[in-house]
Amino acid sequence: MRSWPTDRVALGGDYNPEQWPRDVWPQDVALMREAGVSFVSVGIFAWSALEPEPGRFDLGWLDEVMDLLHEGGIAVDLATGTASPPPWFSHRYPDTLPVTRDGHRLWPGGRQAYCPSSTVFRDHAVRLAETMAQRYRDHPALAMWHVSNEYACHNTPCYCDTCAAAFRDWLRRRYGDVATMNDAWGTSFWSQRHTTFEHVLPPRQAPTASNPTQLLDYRRFSSDTLLDQFLAERAVLERVSPGVPITTNFMTLSHFRHLDYTRWAPHQDVVSTDHYLVATQADPGAELSFSGDLTRGLAGGAPWLLMEHSTSAVNWQPVNPAKAPGQMLRNSLAHVAHGADTVGFFQWRASAAGAEKFHSALLPHAGTESRLWRDVVRLGEVCGRLGELVGSRVEADVAILWDYEAGWACDQPSHPSQLVAYGDDAHQLHATLLHRGITSDVVSPAADLSSYRLVIVPTLYLMTDAGAAAVTAAAQAGAQVLVTFFSGIVDEHDHIRLGGYPGALRDLLGVWVEEFNPLRENETVQLDDGSVGAVWSERLDLRGAQAVASYAEGPLAGVPAITRRDVGAGAAWYLATRLQGEHLDALVGRLVDAAGVSAPYDCPRGVELVRRTSGTASYLFALNHRDDEVTVPVTGHDLVADVGTDGRLVLAPGGVAVVRERR
Ligand code: GLA
Ligand code: ZN
Repeated sequence: MRSWPTDRVALGGDYNPEQWPRDVWPQDVALMREAGVSFVSVGIFAWSALEPEPGRFDLGWLDEVMDLLHEGGIAVDLATGTASPPPWFSHRYPDTLPVTRDGHRLWPGGRQAYCPSSTVFRDHAVRLAETMAQRYRDHPALAMWHVSNEYACHNTPCYCDTCAAAFRDWLRRRYGDVATMNDAWGTSFWSQRHTTFEHVLPPRQAPTASNPTQLLDYRRFSSDTLLDQFLAERAVLERVSPGVPITTNFMTLSHFRHLDYTRWAPHQDVVSTDHYLVATQADPGAELSFSGDLTRGLAGGAPWLLMEHSTSAVNWQPVNPAKAPGQMLRNSLAHVAHGADTVGFFQWRASAAGAEKFHSALLPHAGTESRLWRDVVRLGEVCGRLGELVGSRVEADVAILWDYEAGWACDQPSHPSQLVAYGDDAHQLHATLLHRGITSDVVSPAADLSSYRLVIVPTLYLMTDAGAAAVTAAAQAGAQVLVTFFSGIVDEHDHIRLGGYPGALRDLLGVWVEEFNPLRENETVQLDDGSVGAVWSERLDLRGAQAVASYAEGPLAGVPAITRRDVGAGAAWYLATRLQGEHLDALVGRLVDAAGVSAPYDCPRGVELVRRTSGTASYLFALNHRDDEVTVPVTGHDLVADVGTDGRLVLAPGGVAVVRERR
């Protein structure tokens, strides 16, 4: 069995040889070697090729592929093949097809068309995983197991009858008896009191707003249910193929929040994720870095695997722009900066047929006489030079709290403002720090906060008592804590913490809020320090805090909008509106000064600086997001260009460097 390549930053991607005739396979391996590809993920969507009829397995072709890859020295991240059931499965078991919220059963024909709660699906998936494990456990190319693919990408939540029954079981386990569930769900409201679990349904499309705690629990249940699917496959792999690391690829893109990865991560031998840039985002580069910082948080700070990103365009947006020259390298190294030790792509060879034929790949339709291929070969060379930093860790003095449950609860309907979307404030603050060259860890409120000098709590609408206590303890111990509006409002059942907002945090912050006054779309309000608020305002009283800035106009004129309170050795700041651009940057400037946090080097705004350190060396990643040339005063050796820097690293617009520092 092969171990995961660590002599270089591993480079590779999804490899789907079943889409190509046999004679292409040796060419693939030869070209992989030319590009410096060191791993591939094989068989992810191959179920119909692996098990063409129920119980009849055809693995001969995969034997050949595995042997070829091994001869080529390429490690295999072998899929269990269970990501998408074949047509015979859906035909034979139509009840396993997922059902939408309005009761419409989806058809097969795309991918991932199975109900997450289906034990029929689970049994078939486990049988295939076991067959794969039996066959390949001793194969010398096998380096890792890739279970399924992007769980929940298309089939969650499902609202079918199988899910209804499984949800009832989940609720019985969570609450024990129906009275406890009634209390948690607040079912005295609108005549929703249940007398038996048997009457409980998924939150199917109702005449008006569903019960919020039912909605929240359904999200929890849906995430847990797919986790059970993963664990069932994991168990068989552990039994049959012990000692081989097991992972499933997460989707830590900001808009994908179907699964609570905080609960999934402890079950991964190595955390892996996929990331794609979304062209319509305000700051796609910053979102990429956020995803990396979040993935690292899920991995507990350890290096992680970027399983997929794209060499150039994707095919699933309304318009799919190609990446600019140099962008693939910059994006790849941005992931490495934030803790990836592996750079994977979807996919090796661009498909000639199928729904993703216009998705870019390492080997494009045009072949090797292309700019893209030359860029891939260059990336392979750079990955080869980065081997020495594999295993190093990212340094961060700032924590940004991120919580999937809080997001699920925050984004429900019937709230004060639909303009408040979970993640917006977290991304905005993260990007503001990033453009100052300051790295943040994105971590769960349950993480150890004791080492951070600045802790940011952005729109953490739902907070447990433990979460609130941890944030308070961080301030007591000396951290600067920044809380933004609509945080600490409800408990884990989505019940308001009574007695004045923000219930869970009002003592820490020394404020008391009587009423929210969200702003209309595009409405702004002037503050008396010259900054401008948007999206939110609220009627706030000081109860121990001091006003940093107050509203200068409108119905809340004179009411504090930004506050600060000394707490133990630290301080608790509250931002009760949303600031933009330079105004937010100015506030962040005060916070980092108070916290004693700074960028590794002095640079203009818009240069991303991240440091990875090992016991013996430190590496500065510098990414120039500006459209002019910049100079970073770092001395050492740039492993990208393979040149010394001597106190003067010059970065062209869009340029990237990884400098082994001499300090
Ligand atoms: C996801 C999937 C891949 C592919 C890519 C396309 O990441 O895992 O199979 O569909 O998206 O961007
Ligand atoms: Zn279902």
